[in-house]
Amino acid sequence: MEVQKYLVKLENSELEAIQISNLFCEALISLHGAQVLKFHSKKCNKDLLWLSDLAKFETGKAIRGGIPLCFPWFGGHPTDANLPAHGFARNSLWQLKDITEDTAGHHVLIELTDTAATRQLWNYAFKLQMLIHCGEELKLEFKLQNLDQHAFEFTFAWHSYFPVVTQHASVLGLQDTHYIDQLDENKVKTQTSQGIEFTAETDRVYPKTSGKFIIQQNGENHIQIQSTAKSAVVWNPWIKKAERLADVANDAWQEFICVETGQIASEKVSLDAGETVQYQLSIATA
Ligand code: BG6
Repeated sequence: MEVQKYLVKLENSELEAIQISNLFCEALISLHGAQVLKFHSKKCNKDLLWLSDLAKFETGKAIRGGIPLCFPWFGGHPTDANLPAHGFARNSLWQLKDITEDTAGHHVLIELTDTAATRQLWNYAFKLQMLIHCGEELKLEFKLQNLDQHAFEFTFAWHSYFPVVTQHASVLGLQDTHYIDQLDENKVKTQTSQGIEFTAETDRVYPKTSGKFIIQQNGENHIQIQSTAKSAVVWNPWIKKAERLADVANDAWQEFICVETGQIASEKVSLDAGETVQYQLSIATA
């Protein structure tokens, strides 16, 4: 494996990333967080991910944009509010294990295992691998092995940021499902409309979905998302919350929405000692 030729430094940072360029796409993947930061489809000449102009590339800090991974918990920690929001995977330095290339594109394997630091936050032995396939589509595989002597529970999400004109975007695929409205005392509501449109701050967890979504822009299909994981989250900070986020420009709430996929709330996963579980996500132009 000759990986050196793929490695670059992130802007104004010591953090390393993998730069992929092939017939199908251009991609940039940060080893910090195993986070895909950019994916440009050559076929459609389209960026499929949004990365904040104000994103910071610093050890231990989440990068705003692309696909951060929330693990081993989504959102606030269930019992200890002092622990990092969305877990530690997005704030950790992962290890590059392999990069291969074939006629379908590049395949990048990155791994995170428990350390003294992760055990302070979550006291289990584990191996988490992210396999990232950069081809005509962007495909991610999450493969988690419980290396502990005890079963553990986890929630997770691929917190994907998609480039859209927010007020002209709509998310299809969630009609008739229930959601937890995180902006209204976590009330459980039903998605009645076919598409979710954005007219205010939006922060909803949909525990059980089909895993298939389309983002439309001005009524035209824009991006398609498919996941074997059951839950979804739809988020946009809108004006006031964007002002509070130091790494989002004040008017950048108009440039992206998050449609996240994972296992959350009622879909929390319990994994026995020695067992492995896998989930897939694919993102493509629609
Ligand atoms: C979403 C949550 O998934 O992530 C929101 O539902 C949260 O409540 C958002 O504000 C961003 O979180 P963070 O930690 O990356 O600022």
